[in-house]
Amino acid sequence: MARILILYSTTDGHTRKICIHLQQVIENQGNQVTVVSVDEASTIDLGSFDKIVIGASIRYGKHSPKIYEFIKENARVLDSKSNAFFSVNVVARKAEKNTPETNPYLKKFLKQISWKPKILAVFAGKIDYQLYSALDRFMIRLIMWMTKGPTDPKTNIEFTNWEQVEDFGRIVSKM
Ligand SMILES: Cc1cc2nc3c(=O)[nH]c(=O)nc-3n(C[C@H](O)[C@H](O)[C@H](O)COP(=O)(O)O)c2cc1C
Repeated sequence: MARILILYSTTDGHTRKICIHLQQVIENQGNQVTVVSVDEASTIDLGSFDKIVIGASIRYGKHSPKIYEFIKENARVLDSKSNAFFSVNVVARKAEKNTPETNPYLKKFLKQISWKPKILAVFAGKIDYQLYSALDRFMIRLIMWMTKGPTDPKTNIEFTNWEQVEDFGRIVSKM
């Protein structure tokens, strides 16, 4: 049995939902999983975990600055353990952009940090226009229009491939 930390940053809760699903998969494999927001990272003793997984969503082209900060501050402890990183974004709904090698956000992110996660994943996120502010709704609909995605303001759709999430969970259990 391994003790595994899954630390995430989220704006609308979808990355957290992915983390909870991962937790179920990984615990079913006989491990103990703690899921925590990057906002509460200071309350966690990183040294007490065997493996650390970090997940973060994209907002206007970027992962949260708190994730960069966390990685920078804890690079040494991350490197000393089995570790993994996953990114959540809606560009990943496109088959040609949903792998670590082809997703532009993950590729850019890896160039910006010195940590080299041992395992990587990209998951397609969610669109729920009714949840967003008027400005965000306008901007995301515009981006969707430009990239041939859904523009109906009532759209509430999860692009996430949950089998892909489960496969990643099993990889984390084994790593
Ligand atoms: C204001 C806003 C900006 C976003 N910007 C991007 C973006 O630049 N690229 C992208 O692929 N997805 C973008 N997304 C989609 C999010 O990554 C997606 O909704 C994800 O599921 C959000 O996860 P979270 O709820 O954990 O934050 C954006 C979403 C919102 C609401």
